[in-house]
Amino acid sequence: MKIIHTIAELRATLDAERSAGRRIGFVPTMGALHGGHGQLISTASESSDCVVVSIYVNPLQFAPDEDLDTYPRMLEADSEVAERAGAEFVFVPSDGEMYPHENWSTVSLRVVTEPWEGASRPSHFDGVATVVTKLFNIVGECAAFFGEKDFQQLAMIRRMASDLNMLVEVIGVPTVREDDGLAMSSRNLRLTAEHRAQAPIVNRALRAGATVIDEGERDPAAVEATIRQVLATAPAAAPPDYVAVVDAASLRTPDVVDGEIRLLTAVRFGDVRLIDNIGVTVS
Ligand code: PAJ
Repeated sequence: MKIIHTIAELRATLDAERSAGRRIGFVPTMGALHGGHGQLISTASESSDCVVVSIYVNPLQFAPDEDLDTYPRMLEADSEVAERAGAEFVFVPSDGEMYPHENWSTVSLRVVTEPWEGASRPSHFDGVATVVTKLFNIVGECAAFFGEKDFQQLAMIRRMASDLNMLVEVIGVPTVREDDGLAMSSRNLRLTAEHRAQAPIVNRALRAGATVIDEGERDPAAVEATIRQVLATAPAAAPPDYVAVVDAASLRTPDVVDGEIRLLTAVRFGDVRLIDNIGVTVS
């Protein structure tokens, strides 16, 4: 596995791969790689001839009060995870390589970015859409793999690639969880022991929402109330930023629970903000 730091070298390398008829799989990350990222990389390597993982902590998507400075940076351990999962190249650009001058160009989507994470973290999705566009332009034609863990991000990127005719096939990968149901996240490492013990309530609450739907509940407000009730049983959990019962494509709350539904929430334990979601199909 090769580590590449410059855009010019990555472009030349991947152009040569494509000329040799190899299909590129691309996994964008911010590093601190865990089993969730590993799953994206191994899924990519199953369906591509050559996998490139990018590791770049993108300042544009962090608000001033967020964890940019304390975001874990651990290239050596990350390289091992990437190699074991089947990556051939790891792209690790510097800030100067990605943003050589003040950034005047922003990619911004409407509708899908407005509620939920977009409302809680203004400008976050503009930062993600802009850096992912840059990365897609750097990597070139490829299949790109994103986790369902960040479901709204995945929905935004799918729509962006389609709206803007990008030469990228966007592929979603199911969320990888710890044995107790907690969705894997680099932020889990920052939970205190007490908060870590209570954190699986997030997934349990969503599953309780799915259960009432399975039992016949079709009122989104009632499903939301069930999820909130379960979350409220964890003393360390702050009141959730949002609990949402949405259509999986538009991310809007339907009048009636029907079709492909997604249950979403964001909950803080101390200063650690956890997000999770699950899918339910109603036919
Ligand atoms: P990051 O948080 O590092 O996540 C990189 C990818 O891993 C995302 O597609 C995310 O959804 C996926 N992922 C994280 N935890 C996962 C889990 N438990 N199961 C499955 N997939 C998981 O998301 C970002 O970085 C950035 O916003 C990025 C897209 C790289 C742009 O900067």
